[in-house]
Amino acid sequence: MDNPVVLITGASRGIGRAIALKFASEGFACILAARNREKLEETASLIRNQYGSPTLIVPTNLRRDADIDNLASTALAQWGKVDVLVNNAGVLYLKPFLELSIEEFDEMMQVNMRAIFLLTQKILPSMIERKQGTIINIASLAGKNGFKNGTGYGASKWALRGWAASLMMEVREHNIRVVTIFPGSVDTDMAGQLPTAPRRESMIQPEDIARAAYLAYALPERTMLSEIDVRPTNPQKP
Ligand SMILES: NC(=O)c1ccc[n+]([C@@H]2O[C@H](COP(=O)([O-])OP(=O)(O)OC[C@H]3O[C@@H](n4cnc5c(N)ncnc54)[C@H](OP(=O)(O)O)[C@@H]3O)[C@@H](O)[C@H]2O)c1
Repeated sequence: MDNPVVLITGASRGIGRAIALKFASEGFACILAARNREKLEETASLIRNQYGSPTLIVPTNLRRDADIDNLASTALAQWGKVDVLVNNAGVLYLKPFLELSIEEFDEMMQVNMRAIFLLTQKILPSMIERKQGTIINIASLAGKNGFKNGTGYGASKWALRGWAASLMMEVREHNIRVVTIFPGSVDTDMAGQLPTAPRRESMIQPEDIARAAYLAYALPERTMLSEIDVRPTNPQKP
């Protein structure tokens, strides 16, 4: 593959779809992963119609280790490299602590952290070998602050921050950048659950996160935006 390659989890909708479209518009070949095959097909046809870039769909349940194996090995077998890995897929259950079930907690920890650990472990060796690569994690401002009804989600995103900050210190010597983005409320399905989300017109749009992610990639390789907080400039209450 002559084009640079980006692998994006959660590319079936929301922020992941916007990131896929942005990187495709910049000439990337895209590997798209999520559970919903039809929605992945939709993302792929948007990319093909607008930019004609190569796309590969790999339906993946990030709660299954075998699916993560399959995603990494398909990506590397098909196109031989991953230049940018975007760990974007995420799950939110917003509930008082005493009502949050252990199954919901486990799902958030599995998708928001464990799957990122596993997938990155499978892609990173090929980046180290090539002495280049960018790993972009989509965390949340909930990974830096506490919030009511966010015990499980917050725990998963704080864990992601700690993991990413440590990985960054470890792999920079191989010329690999680890970038973690911390958005506030973004106008997607997920934000529909947030009681405090600002009015839609003043909300961060998925395309804005996609631009932040691309900016982090597009800086000279010598420079790393290791953590990026993204907030609405002037949030209007609903
Ligand atoms: N929206 C916000 O306000 C906001 C704010 C801060 C951070 N974030 C973070 O941004 C990221 C993207 O969120 P979003 O707002 O775009 O949410 P979204 O619209 O709900 O999309 C979530 C994505 O994750 C995928 N996903 C969920 N469970 C999965 C699983 N088991 N296996 C594979 N894929 C799975 C979904 O795909 P399938 O359903 O097809 O599997 C979907 O593509 C998440 O990490 C989220 O925590 C969002």
